[in-house]
Amino acid sequence: MTGAAPQPDRRRLLTAGAAVLGAAASAQLWLPGTARAAATPLPDGVFTLGVASGDPLPDGVVLWTRLAPDPLNGGGMPDTTVPVEWELAEDGRFGRTVRRGTAQARPEFGHSVHVDVRGLRPDRRYWYRFRAGGQLSPTGRTRTAPHPHRRGGALRVALASCQNWQHGYFTPYADMLAQDPDVVLFVGDYIYESTPSATAVRRHEGIGEPYTLAEYRNRYAQYRTDPGLAAMHANAPWVVTFDDHEVDNDYAGEVPQDPGKQSHDAFTARLAAAYRAYYEHMPVRATAVPDGPHIQMYRRLDFGRLARLNVLDTRQFRSDQATSPAGAEDPSLTMLGAAQKRWLLDGLHGSPARWNLVASQIMMAETDLLPGDGKLWYYDAWDGYQAERNALLREFAGVRNPVVLSGDRHLTMISDLREDFADPGSAVVGAEFVGTSVSSNGDQDQAAFHAQWDPLKADNPHWKVIDAHRGYHLFDIGRSHLDAQVRIVDTVLTPRSGARTLARLRVESDEPGVRTV
Ligand SMILES: [Fe+2]
Repeated sequence: MTGAAPQPDRRRLLTAGAAVLGAAASAQLWLPGTARAAATPLPDGVFTLGVASGDPLPDGVVLWTRLAPDPLNGGGMPDTTVPVEWELAEDGRFGRTVRRGTAQARPEFGHSVHVDVRGLRPDRRYWYRFRAGGQLSPTGRTRTAPHPHRRGGALRVALASCQNWQHGYFTPYADMLAQDPDVVLFVGDYIYESTPSATAVRRHEGIGEPYTLAEYRNRYAQYRTDPGLAAMHANAPWVVTFDDHEVDNDYAGEVPQDPGKQSHDAFTARLAAAYRAYYEHMPVRATAVPDGPHIQMYRRLDFGRLARLNVLDTRQFRSDQATSPAGAEDPSLTMLGAAQKRWLLDGLHGSPARWNLVASQIMMAETDLLPGDGKLWYYDAWDGYQAERNALLREFAGVRNPVVLSGDRHLTMISDLREDFADPGSAVVGAEFVGTSVSSNGDQDQAAFHAQWDPLKADNPHWKVIDAHRGYHLFDIGRSHLDAQVRIVDTVLTPRSGARTLARLRVESDEPGVRTV
């Protein structure tokens, strides 16, 4: 969506712009007297949703914004296409601008803008901003991935998931910002589709669950108004994937949570609306422009030869959930679908990377909920798809340093991945970090959590840490080891909170499994 037709003022901006842009940090930089700006006067505050970047490559990154002066009521933009100037510089004062252009904010995409900037240098910080109708966006900061041949270096990744607006303020992001990750990995439940609740910490907009595109747009826009979330988007590139709540709780492919309440046609229309709004609000490439009720979200990102990140889609291609332990062992069930499974195995076995990260929305390690003999599983997670999960774990035995990064559970659960969870003596083939939640489930009574969950540890000896605080996980990845911190906040019931490291863990290269430090 870049490289649009030149505008009358473009040449003037390009020639005169550099000095102007370098001199003024907050002035209105749109040059006066442009025909286009006069033709489409815009309401004030078109950049209320801030800026974002994502999916970094060695030579490029996606820049995002959405013009929405009235974000909770459809956006508030005129029903016309609006040109948006963008620029990207090597410094935050825009003295060394290296790329600029004009993108079109189209009403059919909710006036969102996705600029896929290329031609950049690897492993570099860049700053960017937009302007439209004489208004200047906040400045964003991003960075590119390392050169593909780079073997060493260090990569700092923050893992987040599950931010329910109604359960709390997104206080973990202030701490994440201070930790300055190179990239933020978000593995699902970016919004929740639940109805507004008068008793919530803060209330969802609207009058019910979103079904239409306009309703999903309003929900995403509300979430983006959280200042912690907005600041984190503006300060690092994100790599995102969705789970169920971006559409409908526990849906599977084209099967909704409640098939009795939503016809197939109604649900595919809902999927199309939800995926479209997701694309509109995320800093992802044009490959993710939805085609009706389908969106291409599984993809790979390489960070030199240090780390490869395989981002999964565990929603669109899965079989409907089992309802019994025997059903969960049905070998015909699939989580990934045949094509994605082949793609994943190709990417794992053919990887040049030392660390092979798998971003999975849902937990891969076993959660046996039945003390003593027998098994009781959550059927929505990988446990509900035993045959495919176990086959994947056997493949992990031939992969260098597989580490699964997951969400969904609203708990920290850090586990060794074993070739066969039914055999506690089987080989450890990898590690998994389930990165708690940003706010979902709110503040928890930790004593009550441990009273309920600690008795299950004997049945789940692969668990290394379980915890119910809100927060995120922070990883420092180097050649010899991967260090992890469980970063937790004191509360999500107030807009600001203290934060601390609850636990430190390490995975040594070529020694599968997690140990506490
Ligand atoms: Fe969640």
